[in-house]
Amino acid sequence: MELIIDSASLETIKKLCKQFPIDGVTTNPSIIVREEGKPFLPLLKEILSLLEDHQTLHAQVLATDVDGIVEEGKLINQELDGRVFVKVPATVDGIHAIKELKKQKIKTTATTVYTPLQAYMAAKAGASYVAPYVNRIDNLTGNGVEVVKKIADLFERHQINCKILSASFKNIQQVLDVGLMGSHAITVSPDLIELFVQHPAADRAVNDFRNAWENEFGSLSIK
Ligand code: E4P
Repeated sequence: MELIIDSASLETIKKLCKQFPIDGVTTNPSIIVREEGKPFLPLLKEILSLLEDHQTLHAQVLATDVDGIVEEGKLINQELDGRVFVKVPATVDGIHAIKELKKQKIKTTATTVYTPLQAYMAAKAGASYVAPYVNRIDNLTGNGVEVVKKIADLFERHQINCKILSASFKNIQQVLDVGLMGSHAITVSPDLIELFVQHPAADRAVNDFRNAWENEFGSLSIK
């Protein structure tokens, strides 16, 4: 399962890419405004410069109409040398734009996915990834994990060649659950990624090992 950072903070992306096995970065307009507040294309170029070739960048358009989305998608793709998945909302105009961008061989990630049929339409239109919004679905008294499961079942049953990039998480139980349901990728905020490997019992065990050694030999050297 691909592990993507949901962030626009250059410092955080750099730090997490060094520490953890990260497969890419997603951004959206709200995240950029909240975390960096820099002009759009220069910031995306800076983020891309932090990534290795195997890592993906998913950058969202601002336009909401077909022509605007296609125009922005072409510009983002051109400015980032084709090393980007253009994030397009899975609206009526967005699906239309994904079709047009596919014709022009521009890769897309369909975002704002709340239902399995939105995911189906985006995948049929040519999106490489679909991004179901797990916690936002839960907040509408739906079940985000169940939506991911249905998308995974639908794609598998009909051999639809599109990856599920689950997004919008509030806690790491949701992350684990979508993984078990067959999500191909997850995009997670930096604070939640850090929680993946934090456990007080692990810290206690490490302390016990160190104390046992120090009590016997007085130092931590392995020589
Ligand atoms: C990522 O691609 C999405 O835009 C993001 O996960 C949405 O998260 P939020 O619901 O926390 O805003």
